[in-house]
Amino acid sequence: MSVQPTREDKFSFGLWTVGWQARDPFGDATRPPLDPVEAVHRLADLGAYGITFHDDDLVPFGAPAPERDATIARFRKALDETGLTVPMITTNLFTHPVFKDGGFTSNDRSVRRYALRKVLRNMDLAAELGAETLVLWGGREGAEYDHAKDVRAALDRYREGLDLLAQYSVDSRYGLRFAIEPKPNEPRGDILLPTVGHALAFVQSLARPELFGVNPEVGHEQMANLNFMHGIAQALWHGKLFHIDLNGQHGPKFDQDLVFGHGDLINAFALVDLLEFGGPGGGRAYDGPRHFDYKASRTEDADGVWASAAANMRMYLLLKERAAAFRADPEVQAALRAARVDELATPTLGAGETYADLLADRSAFEDFDPDAVGATGYGFVALHQLAVEHLLRAR
Ligand code: GCO
Ligand code: MN
Ligand code: MN
Repeated sequence: MSVQPTREDKFSFGLWTVGWQARDPFGDATRPPLDPVEAVHRLADLGAYGITFHDDDLVPFGAPAPERDATIARFRKALDETGLTVPMITTNLFTHPVFKDGGFTSNDRSVRRYALRKVLRNMDLAAELGAETLVLWGGREGAEYDHAKDVRAALDRYREGLDLLAQYSVDSRYGLRFAIEPKPNEPRGDILLPTVGHALAFVQSLARPELFGVNPEVGHEQMANLNFMHGIAQALWHGKLFHIDLNGQHGPKFDQDLVFGHGDLINAFALVDLLEFGGPGGGRAYDGPRHFDYKASRTEDADGVWASAAANMRMYLLLKERAAAFRADPEVQAALRAARVDELATPTLGAGETYADLLADRSAFEDFDPDAVGATGYGFVALHQLAVEHLLRAR
């Protein structure tokens, strides 16, 4: 298996990732601005297939129409020259001071109306560039003070806004799918729809739930101390994994946005194994873009930016290669059987069995020996040791 990225791997990057100038709350930028056209060429050379952006990453906020048109035309030319695609675009509803209390859920109604207009305009651009997915990250939709936000009213307004976007996409025949990106906090003290689970429940309240899914980010779930692989598995189970943001994070602390696999490596290994080999017949469980939402660290210069971009793809492919070796190992197969991992796929009731049949089955209760079964081990640690040894290339 090659660890050289190709277009078939479907790797994509946000323009804001490699383009981040590394300004943080404590310090100035450490890098000059990056021309989006250069980003397109560099990413294509590295083997990526897609580039994504917020409206304001490409065209500065408030730029006059002729400048906007010229910038988009120049960007399109670079896409045509390289064959790079734009699988997803997203809207910045967080940088400008007008959004300091959110976009769709600001207490100020005029801000909510302005936010909707900004997203509608961006949906026109998404359609123009052939994007399939619109990501909705509500970083400013939230609060610091419990009495300052009526959470139930905010969810009403969130739903009202998203229902309008879906209607516009349907009426305009844009065919977009919407992916909500959860995050527990940062920049707001508490963000609405903080985890994959919250977002999945919210989607079911929308007028067109079939058009909405999630865009989970590794670091965001891990900031909430949750198991990212489990969140992805549940999103897949609901048919709601519309997009994914890959990066690295060391547990609950600020959003680190490290290179994929540079945080919780063991969970990243399980994640790649699930995405690549957890589908029917051991194939891909998810077919969409493998999107990196990392930040080239503030310590890096321009060469370091491209080295870290390449590192994301290399980490993914190395983990994919390790997962394939893990699955192919006969000892692993035996350990999986010993752990009875496959037995969980057998329904608990027999075909057509009712609760009356279950009640009549003495082997299920009266003759069942819970002490003997309770004394039998599952062998999960031995299985995990094999996984870690494969990850370490010790096997
Ligand atoms: C973050 C988020 C963003 C979003 C992006 C797309 O924590 O900053 O992950 O990077 O992914 O805004 O909407
Ligand atoms: Mn993030
Ligand atoms: Mn993200």
